Amino acid sequence: MGYHNILVKNESAIGLITINRPNKLNALNTETIKELHNAFSSLEKNKEVKVIILTGSGEKAFVAGADILEFADFSVNKGKKLASKGQKLLFDFIENFSKPVIAAVNGFALGGGLELAMACHFRVASDNAKMGLPEVSLGVIPGYGGTQRLPQLIGKGRAMELIMTAGMISTEQAYTYGLVNHVVAQEELLPFCKKMASKICNNSTVAISHAIKAINAGFKNTVNGYEQEIDSFGACFGTDDFAEGTTAFLEKRKADFPGS
Ligand code: COA
Repeated sequence: MGYHNILVKNESAIGLITINRPNKLNALNTETIKELHNAFSSLEKNKEVKVIILTGSGEKAFVAGADILEFADFSVNKGKKLASKGQKLLFDFIENFSKPVIAAVNGFALGGGLELAMACHFRVASDNAKMGLPEVSLGVIPGYGGTQRLPQLIGKGRAMELIMTAGMISTEQAYTYGLVNHVVAQEELLPFCKKMASKICNNSTVAISHAIKAINAGFKNTVNGYEQEIDSFGACFGTDDFAEGTTAFLEKRKADFPGS
């Protein structure tokens, strides 16, 4: 299959997916989300592949968020559709994937990028990475599961703070929070993840897929939270704050929110 925004490489039992829009810091546009869905679908069917590693190209970014340019003029309905389609096609899809998915966070993981890393089964980061959910600085909220998965991973109070401040945390802090399992030097990131993937490959793939299902089942009572997120995310698109937040980003200036 020909992809324009991602690279897919199979190294025996390991499937390596690299998001490849380095000029846009690997921002997730609709096409990239579709391509990622297709790549994951085909790796799911490939019996040789037992573990997937997801990373970003270049040394600067894993994924710097959803593509702001693409949604800056969306209506409430289009905003809701963006969140619900993305959640179904990619984020929930990865979370419930039958094979282990490791996020190799090689740089900025912001907004949709951190949401993507959080949808993976666990995360390893390089020491230069920075993580955060800056959506409220654009007048919107996380829409790809971030309001649900961040508190699951780091606790409600820390998630509230990180989302409200739109702040970025270092890998050291992310490690302390339990957001990433390991921190390694950038050149060690892929070798480390591959070593870990090989270790996983020694175990029963069937048992692992059952373990993923069982672990995820414990969090399924949050389903209404995801629906609330979609509604609230969509509602942001009808606000003046959102228009100002996204325009300010695209004009490379600080937002001056009107508050409505
Ligand atoms: N959507 C669309 N384009 C993005 C993007 C995003 N989420 N993040 C970065 N880019 C683009 C920039 O517009 C720029 O494009 P240009 O060269 O055509 O102008 C390019 O990627 C490089 O980014 P730049 O901002 O110049 O790099 P930087 O080193 O100065 O800053 C960041 C890096 C990550 C701090 C900054 O890009 C940023 O804040 N990005 C947005 C993060 C965000 O709010 N994500 C949540 C979206 S919901």
